[in-house]
Amino acid sequence: MVKRKCQSSTLKENNGCTVPVFHNFTDEDVKDVRASLVTWYEKNKRDLPWRRNATKSDLNERAYAVWVSEIMLQQTQVATVIDYYNKWMKKWPTLQQLAGATLEEVNEMWSGLGYYSRGRRLLEGAKKVVDEFDGEMPKDADGLLKHLPGVGRYTAGAIASIAYNQATGLVDGNVIRVLCRLRMIGAESNNQVVTDTLWSLANSVVDPDKPGDFNQGLMELGATVCTPKSPECSTCPLKNNCRAFKQVEKDKLEAADKLGTRKAETEIADIECLTTGCQLCLPATEVYDSSIGVMNYPRKGKKKAAREESTLVCITCKNTNTEDEYLVTQRPEKGLLAGLWEFPSLQCNTTQAGETEASCDNILQQNGVIVKGQQTFKNCGEVVHIFSHIHQTYMVKCLTVNESNITLEDKSKCKWVTRQQFMEAAISTAMKKVFKAYEGAVNENKKKSSVTKLKGKEDKNQKSIQAFFKPKVS
Ligand code: ADE
Repeated sequence: MVKRKCQSSTLKENNGCTVPVFHNFTDEDVKDVRASLVTWYEKNKRDLPWRRNATKSDLNERAYAVWVSEIMLQQTQVATVIDYYNKWMKKWPTLQQLAGATLEEVNEMWSGLGYYSRGRRLLEGAKKVVDEFDGEMPKDADGLLKHLPGVGRYTAGAIASIAYNQATGLVDGNVIRVLCRLRMIGAESNNQVVTDTLWSLANSVVDPDKPGDFNQGLMELGATVCTPKSPECSTCPLKNNCRAFKQVEKDKLEAADKLGTRKAETEIADIECLTTGCQLCLPATEVYDSSIGVMNYPRKGKKKAAREESTLVCITCKNTNTEDEYLVTQRPEKGLLAGLWEFPSLQCNTTQAGETEASCDNILQQNGVIVKGQQTFKNCGEVVHIFSHIHQTYMVKCLTVNESNITLEDKSKCKWVTRQQFMEAAISTAMKKVFKAYEGAVNENKKKSSVTKLKGKEDKNQKSIQAFFKPKVS
């Protein structure tokens, strides 16, 4: 463990941001990084559907295709996005077609992808471009940022560089990691000074000849080589421009020096920021851990703990002459999972025994559902789902009723769906998990009751055998 300190001051203006020389790219670095990264990307890029669409001849089609992919890729893995992207582009190949869709259709398409406001904003954006801009997408990063809902600095930079070849940088999670390692930025990566610096570095290093390939190369490198937990520095095209990697090499040489095994011709270069009180260096209160090398960067600030919430979910299954049906209701138009369908539920802060029975009845009543006679909700266990900021525990209860025993007083609040309709509807992953828990509990119950029946039979057989052997008393 070594403590690192900054000393005297050397600052350089970079894209409107003052960056200490140690953390900045030299002109030489910029040239090398552009050439090495673009060559590496051309050889190593994954064949992804949106990359093919980004070469369409029509600028609007190109921008739309990149926009959809970039929105889906926020907070979601590439492997998950591929299927969703292909289905989306098949259903709505153009902005004009998307603009004619309903929110219900978009939510159905988005079901399982999470962060549903992303889909809603894409729809709002498409309608806006068609209604207000005559179907013409804004043609640079500033315009995209200004006019399209849900398009922030990152997405605007991605669309502008990939679809329009505008020389503008971008910063996402992968880029943060790559840049923090390249420039040994150890201050918390989510603080404002670091954020401003990263954007200014990204804007200064982007290759003006191939900005789209360069930006995608940085992200691709972060996703496949410069990974959070198992970076493969030996194959990295940027290792010669990487200060974190050089530090690791230096540590190795110093260790060899101590053992007397360092070759005479190898020199130990200084890798140190000379700026007093540098706001980008690892703070003096933190230690550099030489056992994890480049993984000392980036350093994240502490995340706020997720809020604990409990929700009671009532699954009501109606036996009909044909297929069983389930009662679902639509969430409010605003807030978490807006507009999605779910089983009637209620957020509840107490889980004390005895309260849940009554609450299930109340939940159905509140949804305008009348159930005849005394009904008992059965317990199907608990399901935990982590939303970005909420640790949600669903307490799952179920009730099975005959068609003749249940009525919907207010049909605007609830509807009945079959299992298949449920699976295909605009339903969150959390509710699908709840349904799986319910089906698991039902199957478990069936198994138990068939074992009990079997046991009953066995007991009878046993009794008749015992009776057979029992000496007859006359
Ligand atoms: N992550 C988000 N968008 C990407 C892209 N276009 N290429 C690589 N990784 C990405």
